[in-house]
Amino acid sequence: MSQGPSGFYGVMEAKGAYNRHATIPAGGAALAFPFLDRAAREVTIADQDHPVVVADYGSSQGKNSLRAMATAIRNLRARLDRHRPILVFHVDQPSNDFNSLFEVLSSDPERYFLDDANVFPCAIGRSFYEQVLPSASVHLGWCSYAVVWLRRVPCTIPGHFFPAFATGATRAAFERQAAEDWATFLSCRAGEMRGGARLVVVLPNLPGSGQRGFAKMMDDANAVLREMVDEGAITPEERAQMTVGTYPRSKDELFAPFVAKPRFQGLTIEDYDVATLPDRMWADYQRNGDKEAMAAKNALFFRAVFMPSLAGALTRVRAGDSEALRSFADRLQDGLMRRLTIEPIPMDMSVQIIVFAKPG
Ligand SMILES: C[S@@+](CC[C@H](N)C(=O)[O-])C[C@H]1O[C@@H](n2cnc3c(N)ncnc32)[C@H](O)[C@@H]1O
Repeated sequence: MSQGPSGFYGVMEAKGAYNRHATIPAGGAALAFPFLDRAAREVTIADQDHPVVVADYGSSQGKNSLRAMATAIRNLRARLDRHRPILVFHVDQPSNDFNSLFEVLSSDPERYFLDDANVFPCAIGRSFYEQVLPSASVHLGWCSYAVVWLRRVPCTIPGHFFPAFATGATRAAFERQAAEDWATFLSCRAGEMRGGARLVVVLPNLPGSGQRGFAKMMDDANAVLREMVDEGAITPEERAQMTVGTYPRSKDELFAPFVAKPRFQGLTIEDYDVATLPDRMWADYQRNGDKEAMAAKNALFFRAVFMPSLAGALTRVRAGDSEALRSFADRLQDGLMRRLTIEPIPMDMSVQIIVFAKPG
């Protein structure tokens, strides 16, 4: 598989499912708010007659962007005349569920422009692996849990679907793709940023020893896919094509473009941090002992984030059979929930935050 079928690759489960079940990325992003606060206070704002531009790269269905954009706008507005327009561009792939994004922007009680008539949200359906905004137009960029998704899947992974478990030549192919995509992403953003702009990127850390729970969930899902092959629900060929195109990068990989020289495409690294996101669902389970409730939430999270990429390998789903998509998703979710209930462990996650500046 080179690049998955359009409509599935790296896109979240539609009909607002991501908005309802993506509490883990919401918590991870919140750990970066102090960095976003500071970035918004420090960006250079000149040209009084121009709007101030904020870009949200990989917004998905928008719910998780609201608090981040509110944080950015609060800090920017404190420095601006109340009449100065602020444009917020939510960027995602063309097959993203933009209907849900627009619904959030029109009716969510937390929408970030309620108290500010001069904030204007916009949406762009293009890949962030190309330039999506005019050169030198962006003051402040935000990208949370998005650039972990690669531009393309370089190869399938024998026996698994998750690149973090790949070894040998397969792993090397993912490493090369991830390095190329990171350099492309940074180059595109550098082109869009104005002098004095900032870009705050939030990324999941490598699934290391501290994140046994997440690794186990991926293994459990893999075991459910094996069961589905045995039952004849999916074919071995379809299973073999299933790959989730995410690659969590190490700190060294994130810093690699800046090793030879401290500037890459005019960008510098201003800040870097690693933070731990404790598992709130585990804390609830410790209080109420309800392991089914915890497993159900984690299975819904898996479904909302990873299921569409897996389903993209199914012939009937690619042909537009929505019933095939629903039954695959339901079977995967049920099987995963059953396995997560057998041996519950916490899913503490580690998050990397990296802030770039484009010196003016
Ligand atoms: C896990 S969601 C993150 C959503 C939100 N930022 C958050 O923090 O919850 C990842 C989003 O990145 C988007 N994405 C992945 N690759 C992309 C690309 N090449 N261009 C634009 N968006 C992309 C996906 O479609 C998805 O909506």
